[in-house]
Amino acid sequence: MKILLVGSGGREHAIALKLKENPEVEQIFAAPGNGGMAAFCTLVPIKATDVENMVKFAVDNGVDFAVVAPDDPLVLGMADAMEAAGIPAFGPSKDAAIIEGSKVFSKNLMKKYGIPTARYETFGTEEAAVAYVKAQNSYPTVVKADGLALGKGVLIAQNETEAVNAIHSIMGDKIFGASGNHIVIEEFLEGPEVSVLSFTDGKTLVPMISSKDHKRALDNDQGLNTGGMGTIAPNPYYTKEIADRCMKEIFLPTMAAMNAEGRTFKGCLYFGLMITKDGPKVIEYNCRFGDPETQVVLPLLKTDLLTIFRAVRDQKLSDVKVEFSDQSAACVILASGGYPQKYQTGFEISGLDAMGQAEGVTVYHAGTKLENGKFLTAGGRVLGVTAVGTDREDALAKSYAAVKKITFQGVHYRKDIGKIKE
Ligand code: AMP
Ligand code: GLY
Repeated sequence: MKILLVGSGGREHAIALKLKENPEVEQIFAAPGNGGMAAFCTLVPIKATDVENMVKFAVDNGVDFAVVAPDDPLVLGMADAMEAAGIPAFGPSKDAAIIEGSKVFSKNLMKKYGIPTARYETFGTEEAAVAYVKAQNSYPTVVKADGLALGKGVLIAQNETEAVNAIHSIMGDKIFGASGNHIVIEEFLEGPEVSVLSFTDGKTLVPMISSKDHKRALDNDQGLNTGGMGTIAPNPYYTKEIADRCMKEIFLPTMAAMNAEGRTFKGCLYFGLMITKDGPKVIEYNCRFGDPETQVVLPLLKTDLLTIFRAVRDQKLSDVKVEFSDQSAACVILASGGYPQKYQTGFEISGLDAMGQAEGVTVYHAGTKLENGKFLTAGGRVLGVTAVGTDREDALAKSYAAVKKITFQGVHYRKDIGKIKE
């Protein structure tokens, strides 16, 4: 089989490595891919959001199955376009990807179907939003751009001035472009966060092993929000009892709600949860695998990934027994100095021999490129070093031991991934 995998991050590297385990897979085209994927994939220089050329490439090159990993092409309808051209694809339709593409949509969905989430209001004008926060006069409050904003569309305001400024920068200055035409203002929730990725074909929903992301740039959750600086799986806060509640109160009702709306979701549905004192609540939905959650979840998956992808696409997920290892995984992200703000690229990465140096360790590439046999930095998040171990401590120790062997100019990583106060 020839597979086309759309995307270029550590998440896509992890998906590609897992797909390659299936002996039926002859060739993986990665579009656009990255330096690490070049070792075993054919890189295709087409932008992930270029739906027309991506579909044309798939047709011209006899692709048997397409996997669309990132949010933006899914929201643009790339999975539908592949299917329309006769290429079976893993990934939700445009109609279903709106669950991530519009926060106004997802909040209204949760309200309509009684799925627990933060109380909220939506606004289409700056004046109405400002009048609301002034009337509420309750802080902190959370201001969210409606559309996609590279994970940066959430502003937490501690007082009225910050709230008014947040509303103005999103709706007036349009710092996230058209994503800020509408906004959601919601109640500030507290509690540990849990990421649960799931496979669903609209009939069956199978949660994957839980994980915990570390979104802030610096140790002790200081600094700016990033795409994610490291992950662990499983998430120690996600007890069996909470998992059962989530399945009953959140996961299955969401699948049913999307069906009832005529927007059946087929793909990876990501639940960003907060475990509040009143129980688990949805912070956000994503229509795709998380990054860097995928880099700790897929290494623990025992079932063949391509088999699952095909079953999801064919709505036969109930036929597949999806199993995870009872080990733990940890991923530490090596970022360019300055990320998530300005940073430089083009530095040579040293310490990377082939794929990984130690048993159980995999180095996933994100922002890298391969030039004249050398790996160079090419993005904000550069590498994700994942280790699988008997427990969290073992996985973290292995991951950090590998991290210390790798370096490039300006490298930055958090030293406290997986540190949990229990
Ligand atoms: P999101 O892009 O929706 O995942 O939001 C980014 C981050 O903002 C989340 O991971 C939370 O840490 C925080 N956040 C979002 N919504 C809320 C909320 N209602 N209360 C508290 N924190 C929130
Ligand atoms: N790591 C968070 C996300 O993928 O949205």
